[in-house]
Amino acid sequence: MFDAAPLAAANKTELYQGLSEQMGGLLHGERDRIANAANFASLVFHSLDGLNWCGFYFFDGTELVVGPFQGKPACVRIALGKGVCGTAAATRQTQVVADVHAFPGHIACDAASRSEIVVPLFDASGGLIGVWDVDSPLPARFDEDDRLGMERLCQLFLASLRETA
Ligand code: SME
Repeated sequence: MFDAAPLAAANKTELYQGLSEQMGGLLHGERDRIANAANFASLVFHSLDGLNWCGFYFFDGTELVVGPFQGKPACVRIALGKGVCGTAAATRQTQVVADVHAFPGHIACDAASRSEIVVPLFDASGGLIGVWDVDSPLPARFDEDDRLGMERLCQLFLASLRETA
């Protein structure tokens, strides 16, 4: 059994450190993308406060298509360059959006979402795999510590897909 109870931590750096250790254990020894994406989304959703949606959109060669997630049903397809997810994929930069209502072209999947962070995901050759998207009902829920923490977690996910053992 895997315990994904909220972590006790003095600050966000410690919180993401603990979460990264749990994530490494959870993904270890498995390369299946759907399996690891599903467990990744579940662990984050149940470990961090103030989230209403988190999950993956995978690139199908043309656009982003929703993958494993936690939260309410979401928009299925997002074009590159559209919304926060499509912008992260097109610019290859993590997007930290303090107020989604102020983001031009934001795609509202869950009306409760107020702030959002999206990390683009690439394979070892730099090819687009998709994005990791996290939404919060709180304004400005995500800061620089969350960006670093989420990017680190995403590196663990990407590394798990390449594991050979
Ligand atoms: N808000 C995202 C769409 C995906 S949902 O948040 C699940 C965007 O603007 O790309």
